[in-house]
Amino acid sequence: MKILFLNGPNLNLLGTREPEVYGRTTLKDIEAKVRERATKFGVEIDFRQSNLEGELVAWIQQSKGNCNVIVLNAAAYTHTSIALRDAISAVGVPTIEIHLSNVHAREEFRHKSLIAPVCRGQISGFGADSYILAVEASVNVNLNSK
Ligand code: DQA
Repeated sequence: MKILFLNGPNLNLLGTREPEVYGRTTLKDIEAKVRERATKFGVEIDFRQSNLEGELVAWIQQSKGNCNVIVLNAAAYTHTSIALRDAISAVGVPTIEIHLSNVHAREEFRHKSLIAPVCRGQISGFGADSYILAVEASVNVNLNSK
């Protein structure tokens, strides 16, 4: 089994970006934790970040036949991107939406996710642990879709 982790804009700045909201863990540290957890499940990980909407769309398109589950922290594009939503619908690869912060406890514009209706579920508010929980959720989603 292979899980594709996709990270959207500004997540490359984790560690120094608004640490009171996102914590001090860097994306590299999160990736290392994800890989460690995935090893326990015998799962392969592809872990990427882009600040470009089109690049994220391209990666979602290429995921068909290459991975079993997508874990997507679309960052600000969560709240704006019909293109990401359409890509998820188009490829049909089961996708899990994740966020470090609890988007529902923040500004109103973060309460609306354009991708949520085409995702299997949402994990939000557990900091770096949202990523670890997503590994477990992905394994379950993959088992249930067989
Ligand atoms: C985020 C939440 C988004 O609202 C925000 O734009 C981000 C990060 C999170 O992980 O908490 O960039 O996706």
